[in-house]
Amino acid sequence: MANAGKGLEGVVAAETALSDIDGQQGILSYVGYSIHDLADNATFEEIIYLLHHLELPTESQLASIREQLAQEREPNGFVSELLPTLAANAAPMSMLRTAVSASSAKDPDGWDVSEAANYRKAIRLCAVFPTLVAYYHRLRSDEKLIPPDPNLSLAANFLYMLKGDKADDDTARMFDTCLVLHADHTMNASTFAARVCAATLSDIHSAMTAAIAALKGPLHGGANEAVMKMIKEIKTADKARDYIIKKFANKEKVMGFGHRVYKTEDPRATHLRRMAKELAEKTGDPHNWEISQEIEKTVMDEKGIYPNVDFYAASVYGYLQIPTDLFTPIFACSRVAGWSAHVREQYADNRLIRPDHGYVGPAPRDWTPLSDRG
Ligand code: CMC
Repeated sequence: MANAGKGLEGVVAAETALSDIDGQQGILSYVGYSIHDLADNATFEEIIYLLHHLELPTESQLASIREQLAQEREPNGFVSELLPTLAANAAPMSMLRTAVSASSAKDPDGWDVSEAANYRKAIRLCAVFPTLVAYYHRLRSDEKLIPPDPNLSLAANFLYMLKGDKADDDTARMFDTCLVLHADHTMNASTFAARVCAATLSDIHSAMTAAIAALKGPLHGGANEAVMKMIKEIKTADKARDYIIKKFANKEKVMGFGHRVYKTEDPRATHLRRMAKELAEKTGDPHNWEISQEIEKTVMDEKGIYPNVDFYAASVYGYLQIPTDLFTPIFACSRVAGWSAHVREQYADNRLIRPDHGYVGPAPRDWTPLSDRG
């Protein structure tokens, strides 16, 4: 029983109506809808609605949430003043963590913690995350800020604010699908961190800040950036096999592979693999795709481990010419939908989350005066 419960494996930390996973069969659903149906059909705005209302929106409900999201894209004045300093000094995930924390100071709902205010704050946070990332990037690149375009979807608007050009419909739709795929994933580390924070009855901005902090690590959301760094290091597909075998010989993990819950293909990876292939063909640049294929094959041959959501997301974002250090912030731009819904779910039926421990320190012993210590 040495490692029983290590990493809380198998522990049910909370009940949720938001998403479900069958790790043996590779099934993921949001509020009962298969991720495959959602990836093929839903927009990210529909997913935000679904996670917060537990039903798909009608046409008028969708129009209304799209409008609310479009109206809330600008950061408040305090954060806008802070962004140039963060762009000059902070890495992207540190910027996001600090900017989201700072957003609480001037939120229009202040410290109102009513259910209605928390919903408004949640929508505001979903709307503003992409703007923070895009503004930050343009500020650090000494480029003019592109104000949000309320006529564009959240996905298309992000690409527009980041790059200054409007993406074609296929590209915008592909990015939208990436947001759909990353929006929620049961009791992952960042969602759990958000729920732990909310369960103390701390505020929603604090819970989002905790979630961003947890997502940042390379065992979680930071893996997508690590995958792109690996692809760049490998350089050509013919070098991939040796590179991976060497990593295993050194007992290193290959980022973008393995999962606590999935013991088969992560269903999100199926869609991201398809998109990476399509983009390789569309751009006429098979580089990332070929290296990724070779990595996947080698990891499967050597260890029988499947790629997770982060593996092909890296290639897709690479093909969309998104800077590598923005991959994890983009993950956050999607996952904030799930985090905020989980936090509202936690508040609705709260109990402090306070696990137990296994003590492994010395047995009780006598106090040693300073003069008698070794
Ligand atoms: N490369 C090589 N070996 C691996 C990998 C990997 N990526 N993942 C798991 N293993 C091996 C691991 O070495 C261990 O082997 P052994 O039993 O011989 O010691 C076994 O598989 C179980 O791994 P574990 O680390 O105990 O599993 P875990 O459930 O604690 O960790 C994980 C899950 C996702 C942290 C881990 O698979 C990992 O570190 N993967 C690489 C990082 C990564 O891609 N993270 C993204 C996770 S999915 C999306 C997200 O959350 O962002």
